[in-house]
Amino acid sequence: MQRSDEMTLGLYLSHSGYHEGAWLDPGVPTNAGSDIDRYAHLAALAERAAFHFVFLADHQGVINDRAAAARISRNYQSEPISLLSALSARTRDIGLIATASTTYNQPYHIARMFASLDHLSEGRAAWNIVTSASDSEAQNFGEEKLLGHDVRYARAREFVEVAKGLWDSWEDDAFIRDKESGVYADTTKMHLLDHQGHYFSVKGPLNVARPPQGYPVLVQAGASEAGISFAAEVGEVVFTAEPSLENGKRYYATLKEQARGFGRDEDQTLVMPGILPIVGATKQEAAEKLRRLQSYTHLDVLIGQAQLWLGSVIDLRSVDLDSLVPETLPQTNFIQSRQKLLLDLAARQKFTWKQLIRSVSDSRGHLMVVGTPSEIVNTMVDVFNNRAADGFNVLPSTVPGGLNDFVELVVPELRRRGKFRSGYLSGYTLRENLGLKRPPNQFISS
Ligand SMILES: Cc1cc2nc3c(=O)[nH]c(=O)nc-3n(C[C@H](O)[C@H](O)[C@H](O)COP(=O)(O)O)c2cc1C
Repeated sequence: MQRSDEMTLGLYLSHSGYHEGAWLDPGVPTNAGSDIDRYAHLAALAERAAFHFVFLADHQGVINDRAAAARISRNYQSEPISLLSALSARTRDIGLIATASTTYNQPYHIARMFASLDHLSEGRAAWNIVTSASDSEAQNFGEEKLLGHDVRYARAREFVEVAKGLWDSWEDDAFIRDKESGVYADTTKMHLLDHQGHYFSVKGPLNVARPPQGYPVLVQAGASEAGISFAAEVGEVVFTAEPSLENGKRYYATLKEQARGFGRDEDQTLVMPGILPIVGATKQEAAEKLRRLQSYTHLDVLIGQAQLWLGSVIDLRSVDLDSLVPETLPQTNFIQSRQKLLLDLAARQKFTWKQLIRSVSDSRGHLMVVGTPSEIVNTMVDVFNNRAADGFNVLPSTVPGGLNDFVELVVPELRRRGKFRSGYLSGYTLRENLGLKRPPNQFISS
């Protein structure tokens, strides 16, 4: 299959925006996190622009220290599957990606919830498979410390294998619901998984029919060696954070090569880095928007977030913030790849600590482009044409303001250049809209 000439676009859906200062912006309502109408409005904006999906990130806990947690809005949001179930009734075409952890769930729970969401949304569900990354999550599930990185990935592999087996519990035509004979389900088309593995023991079958998409679309964002291998094996959409074109090209090539190594068609795995666009009629206007957002961000937030994303291995309150960032830091069991990405960025730009912590609070390591619609599109097209991306996970700095700017000014420019579609394949599933194949049932021999 050929790669499309058009980009895939998704919206990182949040109640305030991606920038740490977003919730303090006068244009962002304060009750945003608990207001379904607001989420529905944001999803409608993305759907009107024919985005492929909205995506909800998740952590099962509050992950910053007390001082930072007092001033950060992103820790407080609804559980993703619940929220997307509600949004499935308020949208028609757009895909719905929910994050769920393989470390602090059981496969039966997850398989059942995503199968249900796929039915409720008529084939628009997707699962962002994460392994969790913080001790504060572990401590909500009976453990003091997070499992080791490799163990988390080994468990994730088995978890996904079990989930797929459960989604295949029933053949597509197993539910005959024949009132005359009184037979509801043809149990000759039911398959027991009988899984006895290292981490899970699951008999099956699932008590939900096979999802309309076969499996919900599988999303992954591995960036370490183990993570890239897992993403290449199972990811149909692969998220990444990559501010440098050269590193982005390398990541893209590595991921596609490893996907081929798993016997997959490389066009069945779409690489989607994040992009944080700050749009202005002129570059100065865009820079002023960023400066205003930065002025809202308290030092406790800058320090708390930078400490977290660098892996909680350094106390930034005791360093001279005007000194240069060192080349290395102690290893972390948090997101190792993000620590490396931020240290690489600091080395390339010769950042002081003050500059690095500012950059973390702006975009947390994602590509940020501050400029006119045309400048933003130039960057996107460059990344896309150089095969560092098949599309982008759009992270508006604020919502609805930053999203409106993107939808009204950047999307039309992308279309003028033939790089983004004008509408949905209506009535189609998310898989079909993404050009992904529907997986066959593993229990039926072809
Ligand atoms: C765009 C994007 C979104 C992510 N969303 C989440 C999330 O919601 N929850 C989470 O625990 N991890 C999330 N992650 C982290 C990844 O799942 C993964 O742990 C990280 O990219 C590092 O990869 P590694 O585990 O191979 O080091 C996200 C990563 C990216 C790039």
